[in-house]
Amino acid sequence: MSTNPLILIVGNGGREHALAWKLAQDSARPRVVCAPGNAGTALVATNVDIPAIDLDALVAWAVEHRPHLTVIGPEAPLCAGLADRLQEKGLRVFGPNQAAAQIEGSKVFSKDVMVKAGVPTARAGTFSDPEEARAYARSLSGPMVVKADGLAAGKGVLICPAVEQAEAAIEEAMVRGAFGSAGARVLIEEFLEGEEVSILALTDGERIVMLPSAQDHKRIFDGDKGPNTGGMGAYSPAPIATDDLWPVVRARVFEPTLRELRSRGIEYRGVLYAGLMMTKGGPQVLEFNCRFGDPETQVILPRLEGDLLPLLDACADGVLDEGAARWRDGACVCVVMSAGGYPGAFERGDAIAGLEEAGRMPGAVVFHAGTRRDEERVVTDGGRVLGVSATGSDLPSAVARVYEAAAKIHFANAHYRKDIAWRALARTTP
Ligand code: AMP
Ligand code: GLY
Repeated sequence: MSTNPLILIVGNGGREHALAWKLAQDSARPRVVCAPGNAGTALVATNVDIPAIDLDALVAWAVEHRPHLTVIGPEAPLCAGLADRLQEKGLRVFGPNQAAAQIEGSKVFSKDVMVKAGVPTARAGTFSDPEEARAYARSLSGPMVVKADGLAAGKGVLICPAVEQAEAAIEEAMVRGAFGSAGARVLIEEFLEGEEVSILALTDGERIVMLPSAQDHKRIFDGDKGPNTGGMGAYSPAPIATDDLWPVVRARVFEPTLRELRSRGIEYRGVLYAGLMMTKGGPQVLEFNCRFGDPETQVILPRLEGDLLPLLDACADGVLDEGAARWRDGACVCVVMSAGGYPGAFERGDAIAGLEEAGRMPGAVVFHAGTRRDEERVVTDGGRVLGVSATGSDLPSAVARVYEAAAKIHFANAHYRKDIAWRALARTTP
């Protein structure tokens, strides 16, 4: 490797800040560039003003600067084929190609892979005709889930307590086109009961390195109330992921999925995210994502001992060593601070105070999501504004630290949940 390898990170969220923050500490001292990044990535990297979905401009930049590696954060450019476009130019990429990214980009594709591979997942039907979809919904009793096939910014999954709501959901997705072309096909599946956990694995298409477990908090308000969001906080490890789960997830989820993809001529290189429901009958896959989770990344990467770049390089080159990663004991917790009104309408441009003070708290790091620099100030520029993470020797100490750090930060109408990690705390506290 040349000295100070140039790394391009595509994206502008908390996940990308966490990736940039970790890579900037690697022993190879990479020069990190983020496209487009945010006010936080600007502290550890150089931002270039190219949107994550402007494939032509990203390819042009990469062809000119020849980065050692491009790390693609969000699903949209992955599903649009950014990895393929860069690889065609002889450039190295961390992140699946377009065919492999269908595991997230099409729920119909993903379910088909799971069924063929024998991966435990909810029973489902796939429909492109609303009449057939309604008939199937009527044939199911009890709660069910209607899912738009394509990418719908997290909004395409409709939990339906009974057939009436399912019929309304089918109407919305397939007839009224609420999710655009993403809803032209839907999946209707049985509702699974249990607690959710995220298990992510780095992979070169064949070998895998599983990352520590994490649990996300998708609802906006304490007690898991209110509408779904991109994620309001996370913690790692999730105590529900007990030691006996790991071999099961490896042998029943990751290995057969990668094998099935290979049998279709698809080599998956990057990180594969399995959203699991821990049911009474064992883990079931709710979804796959073709990328790092956000905010899961903000609690996983602070726990990685040593360098990140060699792991990403090994995935890109197809030479991953399954024993390559070491993880710190203890725990990490991330609290997302959002703009008032999110996930509905919210203001932008409010000044943020206390960032440096919060970052100086023991074990704490403030990851930026929706922020930008406005002259000397850092201002809000998105719904999820910041992800404050803190490590600790155990979960309660990480929780105490993260809330001490978050309390130092102020902006107009800031909102954050006060109960991140409550399930795990309830489990570990007698
Ligand atoms: P997905 O994008 O498929 O993961 O769905 C988003 C969220 O909807 C998941 O994180 C779960 O909370 C919920 N969900 C999806 N599928 C099911 C299911 N079959 N049963 C219960 N909840 C589900
Ligand atoms: N935190 C959930 C996701 O990244 O999709």
